[in-house]
Amino acid sequence: MTANSEPDLSIISLDGAAATGKSSTARAVAEALDYLHVDTGSHYRIICYHLNQKAIEPIESNKLLAALDEFKVNTTLKKNSVLFEINETQVDSDDLRSYTVNTQVSQFASLKPVRDFLLCYQRSLINFAQNNHFKGMIVEGRDIGSVVFPNATLKVFLEADASTRIARREKEGHTDVINERDTIDATRKLSPLTCPNDALNIDTSQLSLDEVVSLILKEISYKDESK
Ligand code: DC
Repeated sequence: MTANSEPDLSIISLDGAAATGKSSTARAVAEALDYLHVDTGSHYRIICYHLNQKAIEPIESNKLLAALDEFKVNTTLKKNSVLFEINETQVDSDDLRSYTVNTQVSQFASLKPVRDFLLCYQRSLINFAQNNHFKGMIVEGRDIGSVVFPNATLKVFLEADASTRIARREKEGHTDVINERDTIDATRKLSPLTCPNDALNIDTSQLSLDEVVSLILKEISYKDESK
């Protein structure tokens, strides 16, 4: 399967470390442009949740492969966001952001079978977007501009200073281990978190959500005009 070879679908990749503002930004941009919103972090969290339910550890490769083989994937829409489901189970958002998932998700996300499984699924969302008549999609994650959609129309990379990121998580009321996750995500061998060379880099520490969204909307309208 290729990356985005479909010329009619605009793709915005939105990468960055934990708590840099990706989800709020992606949702707001998707709403402003009527794009499909894809949160790939939730895909890794859902896989982690299901593997936890089966008491499978990251080192148990045979069990992990067998479990992935049995996963039946389904995609539905909640407003304009993708809802990724495994075996027709909707996982509660508190369960996806639990301490257990927060501490294990990066370990599962470092494994090749897990990444291959989701790479294939995430690229298939081009067809899902087109079948649902979206003219574009904004996809948030860690490796979207570098690996999943290297030909994205616009690549954005978000950053924020450590104190801003910790404060954001505290406000959300979740116990996260963002430093540990960032270290694993940025240093793993496969598809590490990285800022693509051709990305628009935005430091969100001192910016409001509206200011970040405006910067992205301005850039995508410029890209669309010069197509
Ligand atoms: O965006 P998030 O914090 O919900 O992501 C959870 C974890 O999933 C993150 O720590 C690493 C992994 N992830 C990844 O490896 N690649 C992506 N494209 C998105 C998330």
